[in-house]
Amino acid sequence: MELKPLFVFPKWSNRLTFGILVFLTVFPLYAGTLVAYALSPTTLIVGYQPVQPVPYSHALHVGQLGIDCRYCHNTVEKAGFAAIPPTETCLNCHKSIRTNSELLKPVFESYRTGLPIPWVKVHDLPDYVYFNHSAHVNAGVSCVECHGQINHEDQVYQAKALNMAWCLQCHRDPTERIRPKDQVTNLDWLPEGVSHSSSASEISAAKRKLGEQLKQQYHINPNVDCVTCHR
Ligand code: HEC
Ligand code: HEC
Ligand code: HEC
Ligand code: HEC
Ligand code: HEC
Repeated sequence: MELKPLFVFPKWSNRLTFGILVFLTVFPLYAGTLVAYALSPTTLIVGYQPVQPVPYSHALHVGQLGIDCRYCHNTVEKAGFAAIPPTETCLNCHKSIRTNSELLKPVFESYRTGLPIPWVKVHDLPDYVYFNHSAHVNAGVSCVECHGQINHEDQVYQAKALNMAWCLQCHRDPTERIRPKDQVTNLDWLPEGVSHSSSASEISAAKRKLGEQLKQQYHINPNVDCVTCHR
């Protein structure tokens, strides 16, 4: 008499095995990619500081030479995005300044070939978020509130979290962070009556007092409903 094996897998189970194998090989790849993406510095991480193709320094050009932000980022008051300057803007000066500099070689190369300098983006919100520079700049919100002391930085890094809670915190109570519109690109600005040696609470009280007035004057009342930033 022939013994029946105790467990017989039906024929179709072969296909199932194949499915499980595919799952076991593909899923770790998928999960790994997800985790890598979540941890990648191109998502929103404070301190993210990619190396740039040219060691352009804001500390030198803005802090020491005193060039206004809008000379280069000339769309901030009119558009949602802040333009990165074309090579021609650099050449306005570097046609005659430091023409033999090793550091400026990629700039001259870009000018000669017409190919843009491949600057690496530092601040990058997810695509499902709507942001607008002009709405902030024209409401007296300074670059420094969101980008930190760029005017003292040799290499730009992300200073603030740029996450939803951070946006909302200011939208709910912007008073202290509204300044006269003509001081928006003056990152070292302080209200009258206080100096950089004043205490943090004195500075914040002076900002709040002036901010109250400006809020009225500029009719500022930021929205917090979802469609403001998700449309
Ligand atoms: C002479 C031109 C010039 C001036 C003036 C200038 N910038 Fe820039 N800025 C650049 C260039 C070029 C880059 C891209 C390279 C880099 O990130 O360093 C840049 C990058 C930035 C970035 C990062 C953009 C990103 O990828 O997220 C911010 C923020 C910024 N600038 C803010 C400012 C502020 C604020 C001021 C004024 C206080 C200012 N810049 C003045 C040329 C300029
Ligand atoms: C308004 C004039 C002006 C503009 C516009 C300008 N620069 Fe400069 N840049 C200077 C001056 C002045 C120096 C300092 C030269 C020195 O130290 O003798 C300098 C120095 C530099 C240096 C250091 C060079 C070295 O060998 O040490 C780099 C790099 C540089 N600039 C890049 C740029 C880039 C990139 C742009 C365009 C986004 C730009 N600059 C736009 C005036 C300018
Ligand atoms: C209320 C916050 C806030 C203020 C104020 C602000 N920025 Fe930005 N900036 C951002 C955010 C957020 C991004 C990233 C935008 C994105 O990825 O869509 C950004 C991006 C940039 C970029 C990269 C190009 C772009 O548009 O994505 C530059 C350059 C820049 N800002 C310059 C400036 C300058 C110069 C000022 C002041 C005149 C300024 N910003 C004021 C929040 C701000
Ligand atoms: C430091 C304060 C501050 C921060 C931080 C800030 N905002 Fe604002 N936001 C304002 C003010 C002030 C206004 C102008 C409100 C007004 O004119 O009544 C504004 C306006 C806006 C508008 C225009 C709304 C409209 O109805 O046209 C959008 C969109 C917006 N903010 C998105 C964002 C996003 C997204 C972030 C975070 C990445 C952010 N904001 C961070 C202060 C801030
Ligand atoms: C002032 C701007 C602003 C407003 C108003 C706003 N959001 Fe967001 N939201 C953001 C930003 C910026 C991010 C990206 C956050 C990040 O990547 O960390 C975001 C991300 C999200 C996400 C993705 C999940 C996450 O937390 O990363 C969801 C879901 C979301 N918002 C829902 C809402 C809802 C619902 C409302 C209305 C109650 C709302 N948001 C109002 C700016 C805003």
